Amino acid sequence: MHDKKASPVPPAPPLFTWEFASDPYPAYAWLREHAPVHRTALPSGVEAWLVTRYADARQALADQRLSKNPVHHSEAAHGKGKVGIPGERSANLMTHLLNIDPPDHTRLRRLVSKAFTPRRVAEFAPRVQELTDRLIDGFADRGEADLIHEFAFPLPIYAICDLLGVPPEDQDDFRDWAGMMIRHGGGPRGGVARSVKKMRGYLTELIHRKREDLGEDLISGLIRASDHGEHLTEDEAAAMAFILLFAGFETTVNLIGNGTYALLRNQGQRERLQRALAEGDEGLLATGVEELLRYDGPVELATWRFATQDLTIGGQRIAEGDPVLVVLAAADRDPERFAEPDTLDLSRRDNQHLGYGHGIHYCLGAPLARLEGQTALATLLRRLPDLRLGADPEELRWRGGLIMRGLRTLPVAFTPED
Ligand code: HEM
Repeated sequence: MHDKKASPVPPAPPLFTWEFASDPYPAYAWLREHAPVHRTALPSGVEAWLVTRYADARQALADQRLSKNPVHHSEAAHGKGKVGIPGERSANLMTHLLNIDPPDHTRLRRLVSKAFTPRRVAEFAPRVQELTDRLIDGFADRGEADLIHEFAFPLPIYAICDLLGVPPEDQDDFRDWAGMMIRHGGGPRGGVARSVKKMRGYLTELIHRKREDLGEDLISGLIRASDHGEHLTEDEAAAMAFILLFAGFETTVNLIGNGTYALLRNQGQRERLQRALAEGDEGLLATGVEELLRYDGPVELATWRFATQDLTIGGQRIAEGDPVLVVLAAADRDPERFAEPDTLDLSRRDNQHLGYGHGIHYCLGAPLARLEGQTALATLLRRLPDLRLGADPEELRWRGGLIMRGLRTLPVAFTPED
């Protein structure tokens, strides 16, 4: 499939335009075929390598010579906040899992894993169901809704706030800060930086309060774990809470948004899932959510990596200090790895997609994301069985951020609930 003899080579498609944001997959197919490790200027002006084939992507994600720490970037761009999460530097939130390497990464990941266990996530299932139903109650009798604003957006923010132990009366502030991040994630960074700063101030104060009065929440769990021998500085605790919020929020919004959209555009698959759910078979829901992650996942590009030495990826020489971006969305459509990669098949077997990453930075929140994604999609299809798109797909707009892929709005129509 990757045979370069298939000439003549069509011209390189433009990257990072509006057309690209609404459907990047043809451009990724071109890159996989003709320039699988491709150097390009990003919208921010920073030059980076894009890795698009599955085998190279998987290898790069696990390659310890690629550091997550922006101090290894050859340009001074990182000091100007051009790489990484907007505002994290000025808010002193750099010491989180996605910016650090072993041994600090190993220590912090072990610590948070003690507090964020699969059991804790499983115990959280009834609460996620309750939140999901409450949000659907808000629009079910109307016959129409914008599923991003009324459903996909609030669900993960309330869920992660609950889990962290943010009191209910403060959760709407988080909703506003998160809204600012998601609206401006790919645009002007000033508003995002201000929201991140406010969040930082709030989290520092919350950690102090929890220290005085430990509860059963995740922040209390982190404090407890750090009191039992493992060391966690105050900056690290705030950065940990921040990355859990940040990594767990827009990703899940997009899993629900992109996932629902893909189902509404693939009627056969959606009917199959509805039938399975009606028969009490949850197996297709589990494989289906994995397939939705592969087919149109929330994280288009994995977060930044920097070469700590000269190295080679897929035959291409990369110089020390160069940034490398692994394009998960391209790797997960690689025909060398997945049969009929552009087809949505909810029962796909052998689906080792890279939607949650790979290696030591593999998504810490995957069990929670699965719980939220499965609960949200199953409940929507059960309660609103004739759910359909309320707009022409051509009219839908995708957010043009670098890392994330998701819809700005998702208008739907359905028969109102009695
Ligand atoms: C890491 C995807 C939901 C917390 C990652 C990475 C990916 C990812 C691709 C690796 C990034 C890299 O290697 O550069 C997703 C997707 C989600 C999701 C697709 C939803 C569908 C969540 C949730 C949480 C979370 C709900 C937490 C509540 C994290 C954390 C990391 C991470 C803390 C960093 C882990 C580390 O560096 O050791 N996620 N994520 N994620 N994710 Fe998720």
